[in-house]
Amino acid sequence: MSIDALFSPAKFGALSLPNRIVMPALTRMRAVPDGVPQQISAKYYAQRASAGLIITEATAISVQGHGYPQMPGIHTPEQIAGWRRVTDAVHARDGRIVLQIVHHGRWSHSSYNPDGSLPVAPSAIAPPGSAYTPSFTQAPYEVPRALETNELQLIVASFRQAARNAREAGFDGVEIHGANGFLLDQFLQDGSNHRTDAYGGTIENRARLLLEVVDGIATDIGAERTAVRLSPHGNLGGLSDSDTVPHFSYVIGELGTRNLAYLHMIEPRASSIGLADDASIDSANNAMLFRRLFAGPLITAGGYTTQMGVDVVTAGLADAVAFGRMFIANPDLPERIRTGAGLNAFDRSTAYGGGAHGYTDYPTLPLDREVAIA
Ligand SMILES: Cc1cc2nc3c(=O)[nH]c(=O)nc-3n(C[C@H](O)[C@H](O)[C@H](O)COP(=O)(O)O)c2cc1C
Repeated sequence: MSIDALFSPAKFGALSLPNRIVMPALTRMRAVPDGVPQQISAKYYAQRASAGLIITEATAISVQGHGYPQMPGIHTPEQIAGWRRVTDAVHARDGRIVLQIVHHGRWSHSSYNPDGSLPVAPSAIAPPGSAYTPSFTQAPYEVPRALETNELQLIVASFRQAARNAREAGFDGVEIHGANGFLLDQFLQDGSNHRTDAYGGTIENRARLLLEVVDGIATDIGAERTAVRLSPHGNLGGLSDSDTVPHFSYVIGELGTRNLAYLHMIEPRASSIGLADDASIDSANNAMLFRRLFAGPLITAGGYTTQMGVDVVTAGLADAVAFGRMFIANPDLPERIRTGAGLNAFDRSTAYGGGAHGYTDYPTLPLDREVAIA
């Protein structure tokens, strides 16, 4: 099967992709101070502008939505201005970039809230393990406060404001983070959602918050610029669901009626990849299980090699493939894939936090132009 499968153009809603090699959201913890992306992040993303599409690192919709040290936000004028530098730099290199927006929910810590209040969640159930506080020290996760029903519209409003802010910052669209154990995923999966109101119980109820967020953002910025990321079978943050396939079939079927820019699904084998390098090869295949339920553009992610990416697109199980760690280590990944050049190895020790090392100093192919950004 030919590598050309990854190099045909694609139309994802309002986004025109020159190739099907996507840079997925990758948290790098370098937005200091105050969750504001700095000039170095403009350089980092611009170096990767040859991706068919860049999806930014997860970015907090509100103060309450933060949960990692030095993660960016999109809720202050300074953060919007910081992101504007990034989108300008990417667009100057003919790239396309959408903002991944997130609320951490229970996967946060009271030290992120200026008033020291507890993280919020669908139900008062603590995730396992320890949080990283803003100063990178570790503290056990707390039992979160269950959100009141009347607070949920504030969450929807914060997501909508974040999406409007993203457009103001020059983004081509937003990807709503419904995956990997964060707030919207906490609502979807019944291990973390024990609510008895209209947002808990049946899958129709548990999906309600996500769908309200999707519909609100689509109203504000257009469905053709609105996308969703999901991780069916994902267990990050201690999530679990009693009957994954029928439950996520409902969610994906609903999303399929909404003319979204795209749906992005993570394969369960990649659940631990943010924290470790191993991938479980014998877990369920979401692209195979759910593709038939979603007629719009579909991105698949999680442990893909180039050949696996070619195969999944050629088989019609996805329209594009996201390569996470490969994009961190190879700014010119599409060119390397196209020419069969070797790949730089990913260095996990520089993934989170720090400065230029492991961020903007991965080498490009010798003949490639150096990104020139003042
Ligand atoms: C350092 C690192 C940070 C990540 N941050 C995010 C994130 O902010 N949002 C998200 O949805 N996924 C995140 N992920 C998951 C990736 O988007 C991707 O799904 C995962 O790395 C599997 O793809 P890969 O095998 O090609 O690396 C992260 C992964 C890594 C390695």
